[in-house]
Amino acid sequence: MDAILDTSIFLGKFLYFFLESLVYKIIPKRKKTVAGEIVLITGAGSGLGRQLAIQFAGLGAILVLWDINEEGNRETSRLVKENGGVKVFAYVCDCSDRQEVYSVAKQVKKEVGDVTILINNAGIVTGKQFLDIPDNMVEKSFLVNALSHFWTYKAFLPAMITANHGHLVCISSAAGLCGINRLSDYSATKFAACGTAESLFFELSLQRKSEVKTTIICPYLIKTTMFEGCETKYPFLLPILDVKFVAQKIVNAILEEELYVTFPKYLYVLQSMKLLLSTKMFLALALYLGVDTCTAALEERKTAEEIHTETEEIPKAQSSSVVMQ
Ligand SMILES: NC(=O)c1ccc[n+]([C@@H]2O[C@H](COP(=O)([O-])OP(=O)(O)OC[C@H]3O[C@@H](n4cnc5c(N)ncnc54)[C@H](O)[C@@H]3O)[C@@H](O)[C@H]2O)c1
Repeated sequence: MDAILDTSIFLGKFLYFFLESLVYKIIPKRKKTVAGEIVLITGAGSGLGRQLAIQFAGLGAILVLWDINEEGNRETSRLVKENGGVKVFAYVCDCSDRQEVYSVAKQVKKEVGDVTILINNAGIVTGKQFLDIPDNMVEKSFLVNALSHFWTYKAFLPAMITANHGHLVCISSAAGLCGINRLSDYSATKFAACGTAESLFFELSLQRKSEVKTTIICPYLIKTTMFEGCETKYPFLLPILDVKFVAQKIVNAILEEELYVTFPKYLYVLQSMKLLLSTKMFLALALYLGVDTCTAALEERKTAEEIHTETEEIPKAQSSSVVMQ
């Protein structure tokens, strides 16, 4: 196509979509309904995953809960029922194990149906300086926080594409937008998760499967056990977020089919600054915001893997489902 014509079409579209985005700042976007949708949440046994389950239950969704922690998942099922959940299916699934993901996914398809909203939320953190991170934790972090997304997308995306209906949700992190002190393995996996989901967004859009949506979530610290003890230097600038508040915002972003969401919102600005500022300016800003101190509490914490290797081998729970209807 003629470059002038192509550029004119692009500028026209760009202006139109810019004005449309301004309109949405005044008139809220229409939210989709999720009643009857099958929502699968990985890492549903605690923290953010649990809150997301409770909130989707309130909207009439059918919940499929995956976690490696059977007890935590049972408690989430109970809370979901208490909050109006009608159909809840809980499965023990270690998302870091590809074969287990595929086999439990098969079980879900048979027992519940095709998943229409997939929330990749399970995550772990090591929290050590680069040279102190045990090699097995680097691998484990990639398996849980990044590679598991490949297996779950591969398991559930084909049915979404066939039906031209579905939603992929990636729970990444602010550390998936900017590297953080003591989080090199975690940060790398969160960048990877963002990159995977963003690429899928393009692939699905280019296939004109625009009814299969993608949402990528990048929050700063949330009050859950994962980053317990971590501190923020200036809470008025970067507050530690309430888990219910974050879950509510995530559900809203899914209902409005947003692509990228950061908490707090202006993390977008901080992220773009790293490309705009000089190295020294960027470092000064990062230190001012507490990049050197915010994860200090993680240093002394032993990872589950380290505890396991110090004590005797803990037998792995069998994949099973607990159906609560
Ligand atoms: N807490 C924060 O400050 C924060 C900030 C940004 C992003 N996040 C992300 O939010 C997500 C939820 O974190 P959270 O704060 O609720 O932490 P959490 O530790 O409370 O929950 C993580 C859940 O994942 C489960 N899990 C861990 N490994 C698993 C595996 N191999 N297979 C299946 N389940 C597994 C755990 O059992 C747990 O229930 C994570 O992806 C995390 O990286 C958290």
